[in-house]
Amino acid sequence: MTNFDAVFSRSVDKPEEFWAEAAKGLDWYKECDKVLDSSNPPFYRWFPGGKMNTCYNAIDRHVKNGRGSQVAIIYDSPVTNTIKKITYKELLEKVSVFAGGLQSLGLKKGDTAIIYMPMIPEAAIAMLACARIGAIHSVVFGGFAANELAVRIDHAEPKLIITASGAVEGKKVLAYKPLVDKAIELSAHKPGKCVLFQRDIVKAEMKAGFDVDWNELVAASKPADCVQLDATDPLYILYTSGTTGMPKGVLRDNGGHAVALHWSMKAIYNIDAGDVWWSASDVGWVVGHSYIVYGPLIKGATTVFYEGKPVGTPDAGAFWRVISEHGVKSLFTAPTAFRAIKKEDPNGVFFKKYDISKFECLYLAGERLDPDTYHWATNMIKVPVIDHWWQTETGWAIAANCRGIELLPIKPGSPTRPCPGYNLKIVNNEGVELPAGSEGSIVAKLPLPPGNLVTLWKADDRFVKAYMSTFPGYYDTSDGGYIDADGYVYVMGRMDDVINVAGHRLSTGAMEEIIANHPDVAECAVLGTNDNLKGEVPLGMFVLKAGVTKDPAVIAKELVQMVRDQLGAVACFREVTNVVRLPKTRSGKILRGTMRSIANGKEFKVPSTIDDPTIIDEITTTLSGMGFPKK
Ligand code: COA
Ligand code: AMP
Repeated sequence: MTNFDAVFSRSVDKPEEFWAEAAKGLDWYKECDKVLDSSNPPFYRWFPGGKMNTCYNAIDRHVKNGRGSQVAIIYDSPVTNTIKKITYKELLEKVSVFAGGLQSLGLKKGDTAIIYMPMIPEAAIAMLACARIGAIHSVVFGGFAANELAVRIDHAEPKLIITASGAVEGKKVLAYKPLVDKAIELSAHKPGKCVLFQRDIVKAEMKAGFDVDWNELVAASKPADCVQLDATDPLYILYTSGTTGMPKGVLRDNGGHAVALHWSMKAIYNIDAGDVWWSASDVGWVVGHSYIVYGPLIKGATTVFYEGKPVGTPDAGAFWRVISEHGVKSLFTAPTAFRAIKKEDPNGVFFKKYDISKFECLYLAGERLDPDTYHWATNMIKVPVIDHWWQTETGWAIAANCRGIELLPIKPGSPTRPCPGYNLKIVNNEGVELPAGSEGSIVAKLPLPPGNLVTLWKADDRFVKAYMSTFPGYYDTSDGGYIDADGYVYVMGRMDDVINVAGHRLSTGAMEEIIANHPDVAECAVLGTNDNLKGEVPLGMFVLKAGVTKDPAVIAKELVQMVRDQLGAVACFREVTNVVRLPKTRSGKILRGTMRSIANGKEFKVPSTIDDPTIIDEITTTLSGMGFPKK
């Protein structure tokens, strides 16, 4: 039995003992009464009765333990030409005073606040300040349009919005304030105030009586202490794409989250206090929550906050420059970032310019890591390249090569073995467990380990229906795949309407809801098609209402604009075509899977339930006219 096998077995055989031990890595005001409350499945609660504060564990305790002068955050923004270092002591001052400012605006334990911020340290300060006073934050990714922000405002009902005047996105400067104002105009719920951080790159116009200047608030505020919270109190809501236009508000608690992230920093990423760690993502995504902000800070590491892109800011050497300049030990990013670097610098000309001798490991997740990119990266950087698989819902990896426990042999195409805590099975549609090598739904036996979602915000029923009822006793990951004879997991893709565009999780259902609103569209379908750079990109097809004479090419352009305006540029919804009809089953269900196979050049069987098989040729001809399947 390997070391990893022993750790894994203990985690699934004796989960309470296992996580009770992991909980010792944190500071508690009071220990929990019980490690796991299983009295109301599928609503499991970790560490009930425990009292703690996530912000205390991420900052105060490190200052108390002598890490005050260690850098906590390195902010690196190539386009604004800024590098700023914030020590743990400085971070404590900034967070506690901002928390005091939030309290002076009436924000208190249990209230919600929406954070709409670019990749600047103030985003982390805002999150940690909410955590400090027990307010529940909900960070919204800056690439979402005003309408999407409005949907989240209505659902989260924030007392405050915390934002900045704008962002640097690639080489562009984007103003956030008009977007936030528009979202508040569109939403039925009206937040009480908007706290805004003015940046030099773009100045926002402030509305007297509503907008509060960040710096003025801080200047007038006193530091706030950490509020003692129950481990089971909510820390944050993070909206993620589901199968409809209404995103799911994943709710995470304080205790389980902090325990799992602290444990994962060492076990999965081999990071110790004092190491320099970089997660090149965005605070708007779960990776940003777990591994730009909370994980590394709870561990006492130094986290890099990078406001740039892998290419173009200024070139394909950007990542190597950051790694070498800040002595980064390990990097976590999405495979798409490496595909972008590979495209621009296939021979590693930029790579060779930098000394990355301190660099030990590259971690990739968020979408499938194609073996080509894996081999290219491994051959060039000559350190382990570790694929790992997880989801917004889980908050940390479901399957990984847990290098901090033991580096297992890597099999390209597989994120290695289930992580400790995840008892994974492959089941068929009837819930019957399948043998090694057979493809089916990937499910995890309940209870899930700490750090996973505890429910969906204000939607317990949806939580049960979406994740817990298809296969009773198991969490349905919505991913399909198989486990081989050595226990290695292979994730083959989503079983639902979620797609991954450049590592960004999006719902084709949400896009369909938008374009179905066009007055000339009778019906439509959006599906994910393979893309060499972004992994997947959406493709739309629409049928015109009878009697419409408008040029379909004009309508197609309007549809592209509608998705951009209502969902956001990040959807990359650029390809859409008119078809005479859509393939359907006799009961009227659109055959999206069949169309996706045609677009991706994948073999498929025409379903026996198809209404009219001749339509398959029509769709194939239309798609081939658009260049599908793409090379
Ligand atoms: N705020 C506002 N707009 C944003 C945005 C943000 N935070 N992020 C992306 N967008 C916009 C882009 O500006 C672009 O707009 P455009 O259509 O006007 O040009 C659009 O959304 C699509 O962006 P993106 O998918 O990022 O494409 P790109 O061509 O600009 O860059 C990559 C391609 C691969 C370089 C980029 O996607 C990347 O760095 N990916 C890494 C992804 C990642 O870290 N994911 C995190 C999950 S782990
Ligand atoms: P998100 O919630 O944005 O993190 O997206 C989660 C989804 O991304 C998963 O359900 C998978 O479909 C996909 N995903 C994440 N990591 C991987 C990976 N390493 N391999 C394959 N798919 C992945």
